Amino acid sequence: MTKLILDLDTGIDDTLALMYALGSPEAQLLGITGTFGNVTVAQGVTNDLALLALFGREDVPVYAGIDHPSTAERYTPAPGSLRFHGTNGLGGAQVPAVPTQTVQAMSAVDVIIDAVETYGPDELTIVPTGALTTIDAVLARRPDLASRMRLVLMGGALTVPGNVSPFAEANIHKDPEAADRVFKSGADLTMIGLDVTMRARLPRADAERLFPADTAGGAFLAEMLGFYLDATAKTAPAGEAGCCLHDPLAVAVALDPTLVTTLELDLRVDCAEPGRGRTIGDPERLLAPSGRTHVALDVDADRFYERFCKRVSMVARSRC
Ligand code: BDR
Ligand code: CA
Repeated sequence: MTKLILDLDTGIDDTLALMYALGSPEAQLLGITGTFGNVTVAQGVTNDLALLALFGREDVPVYAGIDHPSTAERYTPAPGSLRFHGTNGLGGAQVPAVPTQTVQAMSAVDVIIDAVETYGPDELTIVPTGALTTIDAVLARRPDLASRMRLVLMGGALTVPGNVSPFAEANIHKDPEAADRVFKSGADLTMIGLDVTMRARLPRADAERLFPADTAGGAFLAEMLGFYLDATAKTAPAGEAGCCLHDPLAVAVALDPTLVTTLELDLRVDCAEPGRGRTIGDPERLLAPSGRTHVALDVDADRFYERFCKRVSMVARSRC
């Protein structure tokens, strides 16, 4: 059994990542921590609470993380985030459930510190799928915990172009300084970047099959996915092949690392223009590699996709 903490900016593919985790018998979801990106932290945790109510999993606690980049005082979602995720992060669809739990009083930073101290890397994996600001804050407070921290994060692009600039992927671009510190922290880190997530796609026909709109929950999921598929088809050249399953792939790899082939390469993040947000090999560590950074460059997309379909459709059908 792998214990998971999902650090989400919920978000449409974050919702699918949550469903993947809930549908995985080998996962124990300890909690959701909220970061910013697709939406603000406030909106993201509101979505998390409603989704957990919809899926009948209000036993999973939700904690708020740092709500602004390490170099700014506030965060407002960028037009690109609104285009792919809508103003509420769920493509404008309303979750047909009213949560009975509220956001926990304990901060995301404190809860992650406690969990890493308690469990360590053999038992616990943290899966960040938005800005890395909260993880950076954990490591700033407790740098000694890097040796006990296992991260499988969605973010970055090493061998392919970015999706918010020719160089940068969205999650890293939200707080490049924080990401750079996390990459250099010594934590055990697997990067699930655009190199592999662009190859993990959900075609429209399958989305319609997986999420039939014959219940209130199914109709919500179908509307949400329809928004994401439309946005992808409009803006990306390969959009017709379906929408990218960025965040679910990170959860899947956290539970089964054999889904990807990795390159061992220490990374840094470019914090200056024109490459701000770019993930690139760290020349300082080329001659003395840490062996702690694993960059996914190939994915068994069919095996992942089969698992994805089984797990999320099981959650959709049995829970909503
Ligand atoms: C990442 O950015 C967000 O839009 C998605 O949720 C995903 O985490 C893809 O670049
Ligand atoms: Ca995300």
